[in-house]
Amino acid sequence: MKKKAIITGASKGIGRALAELMLTNGFEIHGTSRNGSNSLSDEQLFMYALDLSKEESIRSFHNQLRTRNLIFDIVINNAGIGPDLGTFEPKANTLRSTLAVNVEGTILLTELLLPMMESTGKLLNISSKMGSIASCVGTDSTAYRISKSALNMYSRILTNKYGDRLQIATIHPGWVRTEITPDNIHARLSPEESARRIWAFAMEDFQSGIYWDAERGEELPW
Ligand SMILES: NC(=O)c1ccc[n+]([C@@H]2O[C@H](COP(=O)([O-])OP(=O)(O)OC[C@H]3O[C@@H](n4cnc5c(N)ncnc54)[C@H](OP(=O)(O)O)[C@@H]3O)[C@@H](O)[C@H]2O)c1
Repeated sequence: MKKKAIITGASKGIGRALAELMLTNGFEIHGTSRNGSNSLSDEQLFMYALDLSKEESIRSFHNQLRTRNLIFDIVINNAGIGPDLGTFEPKANTLRSTLAVNVEGTILLTELLLPMMESTGKLLNISSKMGSIASCVGTDSTAYRISKSALNMYSRILTNKYGDRLQIATIHPGWVRTEITPDNIHARLSPEESARRIWAFAMEDFQSGIYWDAERGEELPW
């Protein structure tokens, strides 16, 4: 039977590149985007509409998976936003939207997906090294940084709860040329290069609970 994976935010950027790579590695991919589409065409790719800022949308996505009786080998929480990246004054609207998607929605969805995972499955949370409290020297991107620190804490809680059976990793994908913010046009990695590094790591027998820099190939300080 084909291995199955969920990738949130599979319409573009890193999530799309991961979907493409995992399809070529024989996975059945269940991907999401807000409008339920992406530009890849593959009979092993199933796309769903999911807006992580809306609880109703999270429940609807979960119900669609449940009616199909699916069990997943890999869940990749990749969808994320960074509307205050590169800005220096915290604003109410970006704090709310960033925390709604990167933290609240991601946690609510994960809690619904955990019972749908193989007992030895892998859960990858795509975070950022900008979420590292230990290494933070910047004064920018308050909402984004805080959202990724919060996601890191959720990863730690999940590891405490399920780390003896699931393999859980918190991953920095590198600085990647995506549309997350206009400045990323100058980034070092293409989405495909980032996806290859994430995938190479994910296929290893990694230690559950690890916080991993996929660009540099080393652990990050929390
Ligand atoms: N790029 C980098 O250098 C970098 C560095 C560190 C960490 N990351 C992390 O990597 C992950 C992927 O980022 P990316 O750079 O590939 O960004 P991206 O190109 O902007 O892609 C973001 C994905 O998230 C989806 N998305 C946006 N808003 C959403 C919402 N409200 N609900 C559900 N899905 C939503 C988008 O789909 P639609 O817009 O089609 O709905 C898209 O598929 C993020 O978690 C990001 O924080 C990126």
